[in-house]
Amino acid sequence: MKNSKGLSVVILAAGKGKRMKSDIPKVLHKICDQPILSHVLSTVMEIDSENRNIFVVVGYKAELVENYVRDNFPDVKVVRQEEQLGTAHAVLTVKEYENLLDENVIVLNGDSPLLTSDILNRLWNEHTREGNVATITTAILQDPTGYGRIIRDGDGNILEIVEEVDATEKEKEITEVNASIYCFNTKILFENIIKIKPENSQREYYLTDIVRKLVETNHRVGTMKLDPSESWQVLGINDRIQLSEIEKIIQSRINEKLMREGVTIRNPQSCYIGASVKIEKDVIIEPFCFIKGNSIIEKNCVIGPFCQIDSSVIGSGSTVNSSVILDSIIGRNNTIGPYSYIRPGTITGENVKIGAFCEIKKSKISERSKIPHLSYVGDSEIGSNVNVGASTVTVNYDGYKKHKTIIEDNVFI
Ligand code: UD1
Ligand code: CA
Repeated sequence: MKNSKGLSVVILAAGKGKRMKSDIPKVLHKICDQPILSHVLSTVMEIDSENRNIFVVVGYKAELVENYVRDNFPDVKVVRQEEQLGTAHAVLTVKEYENLLDENVIVLNGDSPLLTSDILNRLWNEHTREGNVATITTAILQDPTGYGRIIRDGDGNILEIVEEVDATEKEKEITEVNASIYCFNTKILFENIIKIKPENSQREYYLTDIVRKLVETNHRVGTMKLDPSESWQVLGINDRIQLSEIEKIIQSRINEKLMREGVTIRNPQSCYIGASVKIEKDVIIEPFCFIKGNSIIEKNCVIGPFCQIDSSVIGSGSTVNSSVILDSIIGRNNTIGPYSYIRPGTITGENVKIGAFCEIKKSKISERSKIPHLSYVGDSEIGSNVNVGASTVTVNYDGYKKHKTIIEDNVFI
């Protein structure tokens, strides 16, 4: 085992997510345009540690999750849990990498995207300061249904965690729940996890049973009880209703961050802005806009109302009104719309105007050119200072092949 100052993190993401009723693994369902797992991984990346050794346990449709992680988080290691026999069994799949793990390991679920790194940092500090072998994050929830309950003795020490399905009516009244965010001494974790048996109503190997095992053998187990004001951060997604509730929270977090950075969002509840979108200051977003992918909106643009922009750059000072722009690069001080459809591969220079009811596909339009009304321009190159008259169509397809149209500078059509 490495004895570095680093920290290892294991994210459990092998479950199917039965309650999602989906063919897609739960952690790949999107929230604000990014998979649930990507929100969790981004949070884990923010932990204050020189090096972070991150493992994701995948199982259901493993190759889908594995490909996503490899393409987007290349430093994260993916471990397969072939059969999903429970959370303890999931952690055990990482045992074969024990020599790569640090002295302490944080274990958390891949389906809780609201979590912030602040809680993870505090958990790690508390764990080391108290000299615990296990520290369990707990939260008080008004409605604890579905969560494991924290059982304490008369002195307030944690004794065990009881899952909802195995709890007595009396235990179900307990509102302190297991957040499923733990910090363990790695060696003691693996020594004890192999002792867990699937002796419960679900016949699953519960990671939560480790608490009783450790307490019985006089190991030091502590808890970090979250303040009620931050308890919402532990909410997990188990079904599509929770997916939409949590998306609403993350969307307002994204919008509020943008507003704090100098973006006006006139009606944030109606605007859907992806987690990877960049918007510069003094941009105004009018109501009902959807901005996704790796889009960049440069400063002083006015976007909306009613725009859909995906993976595109909008140059500074441009105005886009009631239009759709996909995978394109719009230059500075352009006027787009109303009702334009800019399709992938379009590039415009400065001061270009694309007016009402125009469709532009995979075309380059140079500076100061105008296509003001009802036109189709596809697979074309248009020079600078060109004026394309109303209802002009570049006929790019003869039924067999696509053809290119070239219109040079200063042409009047
Ligand atoms: C789990 C906890 C519960 C806690 C709750 C918090 C257990 C037994 N229970 O319950 O105490 O209050 O989280 O949200 O741990 N997974 C695997 N492999 C498996 C089974 C699950 O990787 O074999 C993963 C899932 O993908 C998921 C996580 O572990 O990300 C938790 O599993 P889930 O079935 O959602 O547990 P809960 O019933 O929510
Ligand atoms: Ca869950």
